[in-house]
Formats: sequence, C-alpha cells, structure tokens
Amino acid sequence: MAKQVVTTVCFVLFHLVISYWAFMSSCSLHSSTKPSIPTIARYFGTKGRYEDVNSWLIDDILAINKSLVTLPSSKCSEIHLTAIIRHGTRFPTTKNIQKMREFYDLVKLNATGDLTSLSEIKSQWKMWYSDEMDGRLVEKGREDHKHLAQRLIKWFPSLLNGENVHGKRVKLITSSKHRCVNSTIAFREGLMTGLKITAVELEPELNDALMRYFDQCERFVKEVENNKSALEEVKRFNEGPEMKRVMEKMADRLDVPYSSINDDSVEAAFYLCAYEFAILSVNSPWCQLFDEVDAQVMEYSNDLKQYWKRSYGHVINSKSSCILFHDLFHRLDQIVDQINSDVPVTEAVTVQVGHAETLIPLLTLLDLFKDDVPLNSTNFNTQQNRVFRSGRITPYAANLLVVLYRCPEGIRIGVRLNEKSLTLPGLSEPVPMYEDVKERYSSLLGGCDQETVCKMNSS
Ligand SMILES: *[C@@H]1O[C@H](CO)[C@@H](O)[C@H](O)[C@H]1NC(C)=O
Ligand SMILES: *[C@@H]1O[C@H](CO)[C@@H](O)[C@H](O)[C@H]1NC(C)=O
Ligand SMILES: *[C@@H]1O[C@H](CO)[C@@H](O)[C@H](O)[C@H]1NC(C)=O
Ligand SMILES: *[C@@H]1O[C@H](CO)[C@@H](O)[C@H](O)[C@H]1NC(C)=O
Ligand SMILES: *[C@@H]1O[C@H](CO)[C@@H](O)[C@H](O)[C@H]1NC(C)=O
Repeated sequence: MAKQVVTTVCFVLFHLVISYWAFMSSCSLHSSTKPSIPTIARYFGTKGRYEDVNSWLIDDILAINKSLVTLPSSKCSEIHLTAIIRHGTRFPTTKNIQKMREFYDLVKLNATGDLTSLSEIKSQWKMWYSDEMDGRLVEKGREDHKHLAQRLIKWFPSLLNGENVHGKRVKLITSSKHRCVNSTIAFREGLMTGLKITAVELEPELNDALMRYFDQCERFVKEVENNKSALEEVKRFNEGPEMKRVMEKMADRLDVPYSSINDDSVEAAFYLCAYEFAILSVNSPWCQLFDEVDAQVMEYSNDLKQYWKRSYGHVINSKSSCILFHDLFHRLDQIVDQINSDVPVTEAVTVQVGHAETLIPLLTLLDLFKDDVPLNSTNFNTQQNRVFRSGRITPYAANLLVVLYRCPEGIRIGVRLNEKSLTLPGLSEPVPMYEDVKERYSSLLGGCDQETVCKMNSS
C-alpha cells in the first residue's frame, strides 16, 4: 500500500517535472536559450521578421554578410547612398485585431479538439491585443531600425559618418504614419549610437506625396484600391479548393462545424502565430494549428493580394510609384553632375522610410521579381518556385539600397535589397555603369509622369 502511494507520488512528480520542463522549453520568454522559430515562419509574408530572411542576423544582429554583396573594383569609392526602408515590426491593425479576437473567442468557447496546443491556448493564452494598438510600431520595430542603422554604418563608413551627419549631408524623409515616424526616430538613434554622437540636428521631413504616393494617385485609388473586382483572383483563391482544405483541416483540429470557419478565421489564426513570433519572439501554440502545406496556401493568398494590389497584377500599381522613381533618379543625376563638375556632393545619404506598399510598386516598376507566368487563383501548384514572394521581398524593415560609386572608368551603381546585391533585369553586370542603367530605364525616365499616369481621363 505504502509502496503504491510512493510510486504514485513519484509518478505524479515525474510528470510535473516533465511538463514543467516541456512548458519552459516551449516558452522562450522565460528561457535563456534562443527562442525556437515556428517551422512555418518562412511563410509569414509581409508579417515576417527581417532576421528570418537574413538568418546570420539571428546569431549577431549587427553582423554584415559580405558574401552576398558584389562590389565594384577596389579602385572605386562610394559617393552616395539612398535607402528606401519599410517601417519596423508593428502591431496588427484594428481590423485584424478584431478578427483575431473573434477567432480566439471561437477557440475558447467552442473548440473541443484534443491538440495539446488547444488546451495551452485555453488555459494559458490571454487576448492581450487591444484595438488602440492599431498598427503602431512595437519595441521590436524600434530595434529593427536601430540595428539596421548600425549595420549601414558598417557597410558605408565613408558615407554614414559624423562628418556627413554634422555637415547636413545625411537626410531623413518619412511617411507621416506614426509607425514610420517612430521607425525614423529609432533609425536616427541607431545612427547616433553607432557613430557615438550625442547631440545632432537631424529632423525627419514628412513627405506623403513621396512615401505614400499610392493614396494620392487617383487612378490607382479608383481602379484598384476601391475596386473589388481588381482583386477577383484573390477572392477566387480564397474560395477555391486549396483554401477550403485549410479551413476544413482547421475545423477538424478544433472539432467545430465546418460552417464556423471561414477565410477570415484561418487568416486570424495565421496572424496570431505570426504576430506572437514577430512581436514577442514566441513560438506560440497558435502555430500548431497549421501544417506546412496550410502555411504555403496562406502565403500564396497573401502573395496573390500583394501581386494584384501592389505589383504586376495591374499596370497602374507600379506606375503610381513614378514620383518616387523620378525622385531617386533626379537625386542620382544631381550627384553625378556634382562629381563631374568637381564640386562637393551635397547629399551623401538619403534615408526614406515608408511601407511595404511603398517598396513593392517601385520594385515592380524596375521589373524585379517578375515571374514568367502571372500569379492567379488556379496556379498555386505550378507557382511553388515563384520569385514573387513577399516574405523574401518585404519583411519588416525591408530596404532597397542604391549606391553610387566613383570609379576610374566613370560612375557605377549598385542595388541591394535587404542587404543582398540584385542584378537589374536586362543588365548583365551586378554593378553596372550608371549610364547603362539610365539607358535601360530610358522609357521610364522620359515618361512615367505622375500626373499623367494618375489622372482619370488619360490612358
Ligand atoms: C552569409 O550568408 C551565407 C548565405 O546565406 C551563409 O551561408 C553564411 O554563413 C553567412 N556568413 C556569415 C559570416 O554569417
Ligand atoms: C459557439 O457555438 C454556438 C452554438 O453553435 C454558437 O451559437 C456561437 O456563436 C459559437 N461561438 C463563437 C464565439 O463562435
Ligand atoms: C512613438 O514614440 C513616442 C516616444 O517614444 C511614443 O510616445 C509614441 O507612443 C510612439 N508612437 C507609436 C505609434 O509607436
Ligand atoms: C475594376 O477592376 C476591373 C478588373 O481589373 C476593371 O475591369 C474595371 O474597369 C475596374 N473598375 C473601375 C471603376 O476602374
Ligand atoms: C492561371 O494561369 C494559368 C497559367 O499558369 C492559366 O492556365 C489559367 O487559365 C489561369 N487561370 C485563371 C483563372 O486565369
């Protein structure tokens, strides 16, 4: 009898220890080891972390990886950098927080499935997101920009230095959205830390015409933004067989009727997994509600939306960025003129902070990440190896870096996305002559007039 009690007590203790150990190791907040990364993290799209795109940063967030960048010959020197950067990690928008709350209520009240993660959600998880968080920058988002600024100092020591900052040859321009303004301020803090400057006069300039051009392009707003049929392919995919399967699998896991799960519910569940990871570095129990195929379907749905709303789906999407395209080349031309006439360069570094919606149309205008076959509602299977993957292109703090070099043979230009070199489509060299790039984009340089392309009564 006594022996049996001892055995039972030992058994219970053993289980307590094991579950505590399991809980602690699944809960990165309390553990000193690195947080575990959800296996589906690479499918988070625009809700993904920058360091999961550049994985060496997981070990050292200030490391720069030169093996992914092509430089011109050592006889060249850097003369200018324009960096167009997406804001850092942010809270979900109010609309998405509401979807997340509804899904959480469904799980809490009605789910009876026997997944361990379900009981973990029910017993331990709290709905801690509230409506007023509405898209605001989180602490991690400030860190994203501080660290990026410090890495850019390492990349471009001859441009991002105290002398250029004090000489007002470094400019900060931002969208007026609070998450962008605060990202810009965090970037400036990173600069000051990295350069060991204490006081600096470096006020960000707000410019929505440039950084939120999509709001101001009437044709884009009417034909795409406010036009349901412009995203018809996304709707069809979300009502199609692949998404239907994801919803049914979700309903089975929760053990709720199929009718209580729609595309908003699976989207909310996916966001819960993605945001808990991006904001808190937690591999949350929400992530267990998806297997890899489900996550690929969710990724495709997000990519389809970006494709039709911001990219190749409609010509006006990329054309709406003409103003930013011209702003860039106008500045580069000015600097090249200054170099050629041997006067000091007035702008060493220009940092422009905006949105995924700022970057994607511009990259599209440059013909980057263009698949041979358009993404649509029926080709999920054949698009598995597509280049248009918003998670690779625009994670939080995504950045397009345009660098001018003065070389013995003339001016060269290097383009990097997320600190990795890109070869512009149609050009063979990774760091081509500036004149060749202007030739390549001559029809845009000669046209692509914002007023003309965005006016409704023009074609
Ligand atoms: C740089 O990136 C490459 C490719 O992702 C990777 O194999 C390599 O380990 C990285 N280098 C360092 C020093 O982290
Ligand atoms: C839970 O199920 C009941 C009965 O089917 C339904 O009326 C209710 O709306 C469900 N609750 C949620 C939060 O979906
Ligand atoms: C921006 O930063 C300021 C100062 O740190 C803070 O008071 C404010 O709440 C932040 N706003 C957002 C949107 O994060
Ligand atoms: C809405 O989009 C569809 C599909 O692209 C297009 O045919 C239609 O002309 C658009 N409607 C408006 C008002 O622009
Ligand atoms: C989608 O694209 C494929 C080519 O990959 C094409 O065969 C198919 O007809 C397209 N579907 C729709 C709905 O446009």
